[in-house]
Amino acid sequence: ECTAAPEARFDCARDRTLTRGECEERGCCYGPLSGSAGPPWCFYPRSYPGYTMGPLSPTTRGQTATLTRKKPSYLPKDISSLRLEVIEETTGCLHLTLKDASSQRYEVHLPGGIPESSADNQSVFYAAEYQSDPFGFIVRRRSNGRVIMNTTVAPLLFADQYLQMSTSLASSLVSGLGEHYTSILLDLNWTSLTLWNRDMAPHADANLYGAHPFYIVQEEDGFAHGVFLLNSNAIEVMLQPTPALTWVSTGGILDLYVFLGPDPQSVIRQYLHIIGYPMMPPYWSLGFHLCRWGYTTSKTTRRVAQSMHDANFPLDVQWNDLDYANKRRVFTFDPWRFGDLPEIVDEFHQRGMKYILILDPGISSSSLPGTYPPFDDGLKRDVVSSANLGVVLYLQVWPGPTAFPDFTNPETRTWWEDCIRDFHSKVPVDGLWIDMNEPASFVQGSVEGCPDSDLENPPYTPRVVGGRLNSGTLCMSAQQKLSSHYNLHNLYGLTEAYATSEDSGRPFVLSRSSYPSIGRFSGVWTGDVRSDWEQLRFSIPAVLQFGLFGVPLVGADVCGFGGDTTEELCIRWMQLGAFYPFMRNHNDKPNAPQEPYVFGQKAQAAMRTALNLRYSLLPFLYTLFHHTHTSADTVARPLFIEFPTDPNCQSIDKQFLWGSLLLISPVLEEGAVELAAYLPRGTWYIFTRLVLFSFLQGQPFYSGGQYLLLPAPLDIINIHVREGHIIPQQEPALTTTASRRNPFFLTVALSAGGWARGDLFWDDGESLDTFETQNYCYLIFIAGQSQIVSELVKLNGDLDGLVLGGLQVFGVPSPPRFVLANGEKVGDFTYRTDTKVSLL
Ligand code: NOJ
Repeated sequence: ECTAAPEARFDCARDRTLTRGECEERGCCYGPLSGSAGPPWCFYPRSYPGYTMGPLSPTTRGQTATLTRKKPSYLPKDISSLRLEVIEETTGCLHLTLKDASSQRYEVHLPGGIPESSADNQSVFYAAEYQSDPFGFIVRRRSNGRVIMNTTVAPLLFADQYLQMSTSLASSLVSGLGEHYTSILLDLNWTSLTLWNRDMAPHADANLYGAHPFYIVQEEDGFAHGVFLLNSNAIEVMLQPTPALTWVSTGGILDLYVFLGPDPQSVIRQYLHIIGYPMMPPYWSLGFHLCRWGYTTSKTTRRVAQSMHDANFPLDVQWNDLDYANKRRVFTFDPWRFGDLPEIVDEFHQRGMKYILILDPGISSSSLPGTYPPFDDGLKRDVVSSANLGVVLYLQVWPGPTAFPDFTNPETRTWWEDCIRDFHSKVPVDGLWIDMNEPASFVQGSVEGCPDSDLENPPYTPRVVGGRLNSGTLCMSAQQKLSSHYNLHNLYGLTEAYATSEDSGRPFVLSRSSYPSIGRFSGVWTGDVRSDWEQLRFSIPAVLQFGLFGVPLVGADVCGFGGDTTEELCIRWMQLGAFYPFMRNHNDKPNAPQEPYVFGQKAQAAMRTALNLRYSLLPFLYTLFHHTHTSADTVARPLFIEFPTDPNCQSIDKQFLWGSLLLISPVLEEGAVELAAYLPRGTWYIFTRLVLFSFLQGQPFYSGGQYLLLPAPLDIINIHVREGHIIPQQEPALTTTASRRNPFFLTVALSAGGWARGDLFWDDGESLDTFETQNYCYLIFIAGQSQIVSELVKLNGDLDGLVLGGLQVFGVPSPPRFVLANGEKVGDFTYRTDTKVSLL
């Protein structure tokens, strides 16, 4: 009974440390080991009493059964009878819920709900089996019988504030369960990951700003599956080497979606089918953004943008942090330092630029009554979170005491929109940056503390920074419209993003805190990263993971937020940042400046090259966003998604792809001037010129799936294009307003057989729902048999006149004798025999 190997032990004393006597009293096994980390000492025996499953009866979309237990578990407020519901959502998605059979409990409702769908029973990819006593289930991949989940490995526990379910894992290649500071593959060596949104600068072993209870497993042979636990309570996930995983949640229900893929990209698509496909960002938001805390006046802000312009750096969006606000109160601007803010914004607009400022959720409560309408009005309209009996709870944030809007209340959303509309009528900002929305507080719970209750002091607190659920945030017992903050905490940023994006036009919102579905409304940045090399390196898996979570518009603060950057670090970060889907250089108040123009001429040149490279690729990046919006394809893509059957790609997270064709291999180490990059099997063409090293653009490399030592001088980032693809580009300019007017050009990377294809999605870049309302152009480019043709799949009259100004073809085996464009001979083409590149 107690013979489990140490690595296969499941912890019977997760809720508290037990002595041998207490452990055995629970009916568990006690087996001390040397050292305190690693396998538990008190663990479940092979068979441990739990729930017994009654007969399964069919429902319209699946099956249902009742689970009962004779003896309550060792947990307080144990729930003795559960209802299991199994729903065949789609052919690739199985949905299982476990709820209290006799009373209603809190359940997550995502904004917009979850689409109803149904599976064709014959062809589903999964098969479920049940063990009736003690209850457990097994989900298999039907095609090969592989076990995807097996919850019979440890007992199911379901008490009021403690829900636990374990499962074996099909492999050790697990990603997801954010937000944490980690590589793309999670460490299964007795790791605990807590999902509890927290204002916390990224570092290892900490619960960070977002909560994403979703993981994806690579099954070794190219197959993959995913699991999503739709639960917004504090969750702790234990990973152990068997491999296995245990979910513990402090409330709600167990609402589990299993996605069968069979390939990794399909897993993500199935997941996003449930939580919603990402929004289409405005075109300009893919340009370069510049921000810092400490642009203390409008004059400074104007000067910064001017310096960028004078030094010939592209800049689409100028930002201001809290500096603009009068006494740090949102929806106001400082009449002395930022008195001409409306005019400045107009000036930016006239230059084809955009302007964004920060918007914290905390509403200052210390102004004289009648002087600060957002608060007065908010109180009147009863939109803030309160303690029991309707007493408003105050936190302490930047402006001092603040009240916190409850965005689960529809009235709050109307009030919030009113505040935004009113402010917008004075300062026509183009987007909003919603920070501090975990929500973050400098005092624990509230300025007056929190009541003593089971919500504030639950029987089990997952491992969180600060040791308590209310550290750095609101009281758990704070009342919100939908439920207690205890249940809703992880949804705060999502509900705020939802309220903030209800704008006319195509909104731009950037949020720090996140939860599944947020990608429908907002982008995310990875918070207060430090200006150092390690954080540069870990920004890649952070960005890639948000892609898996359905938040493709994501980036880290370029050059780092905390601490002083160095010139070299900032160059490398600008080069990598040029390939974050969202690129913003942002800096903390006390630090040395890090705008591109403050560095030496050589550094500036390298940064300019990186920015111009990004700008030249924006039509392609925008098209990738179209595909994520309409088909849930990833934008910044881990190699394992594109090359699932290549074992070398399983763990790569120092390189990544844009879509399926652009391979980005940045330098992540100080002093490095070369780099080992992996090139998956196939032909890859050099995209970035390295003149000094006689590495020329378009030069092919035929990879058998191998690492290559690449020169990586300070002025270049290594980019490769995959054979068989066509990239739509435009000449860069200082803003996207200008670059969008430039002619397009194509980079054609021919396959060995001389084929390639690509596409372009184009619209006005800022109207809402252009795809949905058919207000766009879509072109396909095909190269083959010495011809390149474009096929107009969809043409919108307002957008015609797109001009192709030229193209370059990589991999033309021999010099062309002549070139025809639209049937007519062209004289001005070139061919390089060394690289086999044709230019037109
Ligand atoms: C915390 C945010 O993470 C940071 O980006 C911002 O500059 C400060 N708050 C001040 O608003």
